[in-house]
Amino acid sequence: MADPDQPRDLTQGMAISDVADGAILRGRVGEEEVVVVRRGADVFAIGAHCTHYHGPLAEGIIVGDTIRCPWHHACFNLRTGEALRAPALDAVACWRVDRDGGRLFVREKVPEAAPGRAPAGGSHGWPESVVIVGGGAAGLAAADMLRREGYDRPITMLSDDDSPPCDRPNLSKDYLAGSAQDDWIPLRPPEFYTDRRIDLILSARVSALDLRKRNVQLGDGRAYPFGALLLATGADPVRLAIPGSDEPHVHYLRTFGDSKAIIARASAAKRAAVVGGSFIGLEVAASLRLRGIEVDVVAPQSRPMERVLGPEVGRFVQGLHESHGVTFHLGRTVTRIDGRRLSLSDQTALEADFVVVGIGVRPRIALAEQANLSIDRGVLVNEHLETSAPGVFAAGDIARWPDRHSGEKIRVEHWVVAERQGQTAARNILGRRERFDTVPFFWSQHYDIAINYVGHAEVWDAADIDGRLEEHDCTVTYRRGDRRLAVATIFRDRASLEAEAAMERDVSG
Ligand code: NAI
Repeated sequence: MADPDQPRDLTQGMAISDVADGAILRGRVGEEEVVVVRRGADVFAIGAHCTHYHGPLAEGIIVGDTIRCPWHHACFNLRTGEALRAPALDAVACWRVDRDGGRLFVREKVPEAAPGRAPAGGSHGWPESVVIVGGGAAGLAAADMLRREGYDRPITMLSDDDSPPCDRPNLSKDYLAGSAQDDWIPLRPPEFYTDRRIDLILSARVSALDLRKRNVQLGDGRAYPFGALLLATGADPVRLAIPGSDEPHVHYLRTFGDSKAIIARASAAKRAAVVGGSFIGLEVAASLRLRGIEVDVVAPQSRPMERVLGPEVGRFVQGLHESHGVTFHLGRTVTRIDGRRLSLSDQTALEADFVVVGIGVRPRIALAEQANLSIDRGVLVNEHLETSAPGVFAAGDIARWPDRHSGEKIRVEHWVVAERQGQTAARNILGRRERFDTVPFFWSQHYDIAINYVGHAEVWDAADIDGRLEEHDCTVTYRRGDRRLAVATIFRDRASLEAEAAMERDVSG
């Protein structure tokens, strides 16, 4: 008898009526887990796991000809398996499906397509070369997409980091907690760059852009001409400007090197002080607690994460961290660091073996400013992510774009948005004129709780909670007037995906 816990063997066939239109059926082919999806007369069989973090696609949703991952909203084409939207960059496998009478049979795996498709509209008008300044999410996703689109001319990526593009979200989460290995962190292995002829130049700080000569210059005099340019310079952590803040045991977290330095410090420490009660501060606090380090968090606001998620969710997040042994010192700042002693603004003091500062970032817009590109608290881009200079694009933390969802020009600092902007910018460098309409999405991890967030709410007048925060099962809807601006969920992944899809429909008419 078939084991009811075992996914069904899809090669044995199933009645077409077993596969409801738009539903996702889990099964296996040999040892591999596969999902079957029917869209009208078409039936698809593709790998059951997202290529980003192995999320279960069977628990995702179907939108048109795409399947969306419940964990971090990657999106795959059901027909080809292609990863249409970050954070997944690699395709999922596809299997051939046969019909025989009223039955469907999943057959063999379809051979993987070679990287790089034939250019849809020909390569007419493509730039002679592309230079990408920045080795973060947006830069890597753009280089990857240029090659996927069949662009065959030189691509140069200049990064002032000494590590290749890496999975930055992991640096404050699993990697810092000690549950992800070093080799999980690079977004791509070294051979990716050689195989795809992407000239990745590390430790290379661009010092000037010459838009007239169309080249970028490094401090050491090297110059790189470009046909098209993508600025994806990201952001720098804001530095704490108090006495003692330049001592070596005061850390920031932005790069792979920064995360390794904190881990090395933590290995010989018992107590840490975290300055800042937002994303970096709290994810670091959780990761250090998982390493058994005592953690004090000092932050000026009255609730952690209040600015982004509101007071109720802030109170919940605070309680969650307290239940894991974190001590908060809210409504205060650190005024002085003197070795192990930290003085706080209310005249109290703390002891810590080391300090991690997460008090925000500043977009790195100096190059764009110096080149006289239009600036407004970021680099201004149009709906195609092109700056005020033709052929010069910007993506990621630095880009302020006209967002159709809010009707405002917004700049956000989310990983997935940066990658998706890199992908859109790449296609537009090739003349596609694709509008960047993505609904912003981020996730934040605290112990075993992930908060997923879609939309963008800087100011809202109601945050309606459906379900219960303390039971880790809820949807929080942020509204202004009768408009739904954003939705945060805890253990309601489908609701998050459905909110994203609904927000997409709102502007796609
Ligand atoms: P943030 O901009 O989210 O928050 C900065 C926090 O620092 C604010 O709560 C502010 O009140 C506080 N602050 C400002 N001055 C302070 C001071 N003198 N003392 C104590 N607190 C002070 O920036 P954060 O957390 O540093 O994150 C940096 C970047 O990394 C952001 O762009 C963030 O979006 C990104 N990030 C995102 C994650 C996610 O989406 N899960 C995870 C980690 C980082």
